[in-house]
Amino acid sequence: MKKIVILISGRGSNMEALIAARDAGTLPVNIVAVISNRVEAEGLETAAKSGITTHFINHKAFAGREAFDSRLAQCIDEFEPDLVVLAGFMRILSDGFVRHYEGRLINIHPSLLPSFPGLHTHHCTVHFVTPALDHGPVIIQAAVPVLDGDDEASLSARVLQQEHIVYPQAVRWFVEDKLTLENGRVRIAAELAEPPVLISPEIR
Ligand code: GRF
Repeated sequence: MKKIVILISGRGSNMEALIAARDAGTLPVNIVAVISNRVEAEGLETAAKSGITTHFINHKAFAGREAFDSRLAQCIDEFEPDLVVLAGFMRILSDGFVRHYEGRLINIHPSLLPSFPGLHTHHCTVHFVTPALDHGPVIIQAAVPVLDGDDEASLSARVLQQEHIVYPQAVRWFVEDKLTLENGRVRIAAELAEPPVLISPEIR
């Protein structure tokens, strides 16, 4: 079974969605470690309760970004993961780190700007992390509507719900060898019927 390491800095709800999918038997993966750069990250406790090995590496204890990243990479590599999953990891990663994990480092982020101007939708995106690009090649996105009376909290909650669907989906594709990064482009196995953008039922 493929191994993944998850990096977090806080709440860890995306990490929880991955653990839940694993426990439900829909994500055949071995979560070998959860690493946080913040000791107070709630997700550390959640992971430990699920029996997952956790590590805390304090970025403030290092002289600079490279030094921290190299310690982090050393810790990750001890677990020999097939995939490194950023799940609310609040650090800019150095080019060297990102290159080291090329094709096996993914991230999720929510948009704070309307995804399709005029349509009142927001989205979240799962993408490979590459040094050259801001966002990196997109694996899957989900779009949600902005409803009357929405505020930032209700909108983020709606986007987060979709994050918890698309992130396990992207990891599932990866661990089933249906997703790769080739020459800077995402390749998803042809037999997959899922569209690259999941539109939430409210806007369909
Ligand atoms: C999520 O919105 C994720 O997309 C972004 O940071 C947030 C982390 O939330 N990168 P959680 O820690 O997974 O609950």
